[in-house]
Formats: sequence, C-alpha cells, structure tokens
Amino acid sequence: MNPYLSWPFSVIINFYRMNNTKSLHRKDLLGLKDLSVDEIKLILRTAHSMKEVAARPIPKVPTLLGKHIVTLFYEASTRTRTSFNTAAKILSANVTNVAVSSSSVVKGENLIDTVKNLEVMGLDCIIIRHSMGGAPHLAAKNVQASVINAGDGYNEHPTQGLLDIFTMEEKKGNLKGKKVLIVGDIAHSRVARSNIWGLTKLGAKVVLVGPPTLIPEDIEEMGVRVSYNLDAEIPAADFINMLRIQKERQDKGLFPSIEEYAKLYGLNSDRLKKAQKDVIVMHPGPINRGVEITSEVADGPYNVILEQVTNGVAVRAALLLLLLGKPTA
Ligand code: CP
Repeated sequence: MNPYLSWPFSVIINFYRMNNTKSLHRKDLLGLKDLSVDEIKLILRTAHSMKEVAARPIPKVPTLLGKHIVTLFYEASTRTRTSFNTAAKILSANVTNVAVSSSSVVKGENLIDTVKNLEVMGLDCIIIRHSMGGAPHLAAKNVQASVINAGDGYNEHPTQGLLDIFTMEEKKGNLKGKKVLIVGDIAHSRVARSNIWGLTKLGAKVVLVGPPTLIPEDIEEMGVRVSYNLDAEIPAADFINMLRIQKERQDKGLFPSIEEYAKLYGLNSDRLKKAQKDVIVMHPGPINRGVEITSEVADGPYNVILEQVTNGVAVRAALLLLLLGKPTA
C-alpha cells in the first residue's frame, strides 16, 4: 500500500510545500538546540494540520496504527503526559504509561536497563521526563526506538518550546523582530532554554527578565538580552512568557521572599496597563497564582494559557507523526 494513503491530506500537502522535506531526518527529538530552522518550520506546519484533525468530530486517523509508544516520566506531569497520550490516540497508536513510582526503578533499575527492557517489548517510541539533564540523550544512544525529551533537568523541554512558538505564530504571525519577554527563574528553567533556542533561530528578540540570582551570567551568549527591570521591558513587549517560580529556591536564598518576588517580578493588572493593547500573556503551567502571575491576569483577556495547552496536543501529534510515520516512498 502507498504509505502516504493513511496520512491526513493536509499534512501531505504541507510536505510538498516544504521543498521536498517530507519528514524529520532524525530518530529522536532531544532539544530545539539541535533543530534547524527548516525542521522547526516543518513541525509547526504539520502541527497546523494536526490541529485541524484534532478538532474534527471524530479526531482519529490511522497513521500510526500498529505503533506502540511508552511514556516514562520520572517527574510529575499533567499537561505533557496527557497531551502525548491524546496525540498518540488521535494517530491510532497504542500507548503505555509507565508509573515510575511503582516500576522496577524503585528497586534500583537504571535508566539504560529500563529503556532497553521497554524496547524489546516492541516499543517504537519512548517519551522521557527526567530530573537529570541529558537523561533522554543517554537513553537515545542505547535504543533503536525513537526517544522524545519531555523535559530533562534544567536543560530543555522541546515540545513546550514548540507549542509556545506555535501559539505565538498563531497570534502574531512571523516572529522575526518580535519582542518576547521570558520572566522568572531562568537559571532552573528548561522551558526558558527551549524557548530561547527556538525563538532566536526564528529571529525573535528575546529578553530574559528576573532577579540576578536567577539568571545565569553567561546566558547572553545564547543571543538574548538580560534585564532586571520588568516594568522597563513591558511597554515594548509583544509576548510576556511568565515562568513558574519554584518555591524551593527561596530556601536556597536565591530571592528574599515570595512577597518580594511577586512585587518586583510578578505580572499583575497594574503592571500590564503599561503593555501594548495586543500584548500576549503566556505561562507553561503549572501556575503559582499570586506569585509570578495574579489570577486576574492569568484568566484575563491577554492570556493564551489554555490555548497553549490545546496546541500542545497538535504539536506533539505532529512530532509523533514525523518521527514514527515516515513514508518510505
Ligand atoms: N508545562 C508542563 O510541562 O506541564 P506539566 O508539568 O504538567 O507536564
């Protein structure tokens, strides 16, 4: 059977528009640092097609029928894990969720043994979230199956970066020259890193805002500007992406108190009055309401936070399709 026949028509059309780039020529998706601009654009275009599929009355296509995907999360998740599950089911793939807390990991089984054992059960793709930066990269070197990074330590969260970019483009089109503020705990944020890699490749002007203790000294080498003054940056911003402040950082003396942090770097209605009329407020979730963002702003007219979550399904479906559904014709 022609392998294209089971693909959504709009996806095939997009591939032909992409100068013969029909698929991702890689086994794994480990970070946006490694992706070319063409690869990012291919994923985003495919995600538009998948969003259309996901919105159908019966959101299902047979493209990945017979493929088996496993999620292996060593850290908690609501959005990422559930949206990968939903995306896989839209594409008719089987999904197994390994609950690490009740797996043989608690008996001391290491990551390499775990992924090798999963692979020999016939799995085609392993989606990993781990507290150690580089864990998905290690897994990818040790299995033939595709590995997708669902967040590794402070390193990257590539599918979050892609869904953020997808949402930004949906709202304001081409991101070249657009000013994106990423606000908060940059030092410990894999979301920030994936956003920086992706946005700078697409020509956006990225400004990192937060207290000096939460912004690494050498981060400007990534092609971004650093500011410690949120009020000064808001008026020219096209997008304000607020990061979750990890309260445990306060115990390490990285900022004096939650109240002080909220006063200087929290996004509230007063602060937002200085923004442009069409500013877009984003947050990857989960939100600490009243800390990095007030409820009034998080639920207010400028926010696209739940749209980001919806778009996460389309972006993750696109990735699964491009990694696992490669046509060979
Ligand atoms: N944004 C994000 O990664 O959310 P989860 O931790 O719920 O997956």
